Amino acid sequence: MKPVRKVVFPVNGLGTRFLPATKATPKEMLPIVDMPLIQYAVAEAAAAGVTEMIFVTGRNKRAIEDHFDDYPELERELEEKGKDELLDLVRNIVPAGVKCVYIRQPKALGLGHAVLCAKPVVGNEPFGVMLADDLVDAKESCIGQLIKVRNEHNGGSVVAVQDVAPESTNKYGIVSVDDIAQQTSQMRGIVEKPDPAVAPSRMAVIGRYVFEPEIFDYLEKVEPGVGGEIQLTDGVAASLDTVPTYAYRFEGRRFDCGSKQGFLDATVHFARKRGFKIN
Ligand code: G1P
Repeated sequence: MKPVRKVVFPVNGLGTRFLPATKATPKEMLPIVDMPLIQYAVAEAAAAGVTEMIFVTGRNKRAIEDHFDDYPELERELEEKGKDELLDLVRNIVPAGVKCVYIRQPKALGLGHAVLCAKPVVGNEPFGVMLADDLVDAKESCIGQLIKVRNEHNGGSVVAVQDVAPESTNKYGIVSVDDIAQQTSQMRGIVEKPDPAVAPSRMAVIGRYVFEPEIFDYLEKVEPGVGGEIQLTDGVAASLDTVPTYAYRFEGRRFDCGSKQGFLDATVHFARKRGFKIN
């Protein structure tokens, strides 16, 4: 069985919920305390042993590439001034042994389409998908937990889930399972953003996935769905008959940093963790 070495980060969203802050700055670059969201995600992947970070990017997202690139002038300046701690910080933004790859999504046609854009770089290997605006604080890397589940089941897809309030099902992919196990359940169905009245459960997909490369075959056939977009959820739904797929209740606390409330909660949480006082 091939190990999971690659993670795809779809980062081509417009981030309209954070306008005006996101007019010229990618939403993935918004900082929680002092570190951009996308760097938390990359650190989580690296902690799980992932060595290739694949960013599906687009117009106005160049700041992400710059963030993970060398900056010799800055390093020289910090070196000359003896600011060793800051120098260390800047030099270790890309974790040791990690490679970053960028691929453009020419049109924002949806999350499923964004993942499909990574096919030429992922190739015939299992891989993870991480949405940086879902920030997870966990003892053990959340994507690492999913990879472990995949390995324990000798392959298959794994999707992170969490129970949400019944009225919130229309914000998430919602899964149905046969037997609700404490942590890992075999998935039977998945629908994108169902109305609370027709939602099959309250088990919502959080932005962490592990896939076998077969998912690309299904994504290639997906028609536009909710919001006229090529949905990742629909690709997963189409694959359920042939690819064993697990819904996994991860351990850790998730912050929805795509919403202002979640972003603020995350800021307070991580600030406290770092020893800041909230007055
Ligand atoms: C996406 C997915 C959805 C998932 C969610 C998790 O939606 O389409 O299935 O539950 O991420 O954050 P978005 O938040 O991009 O609308």
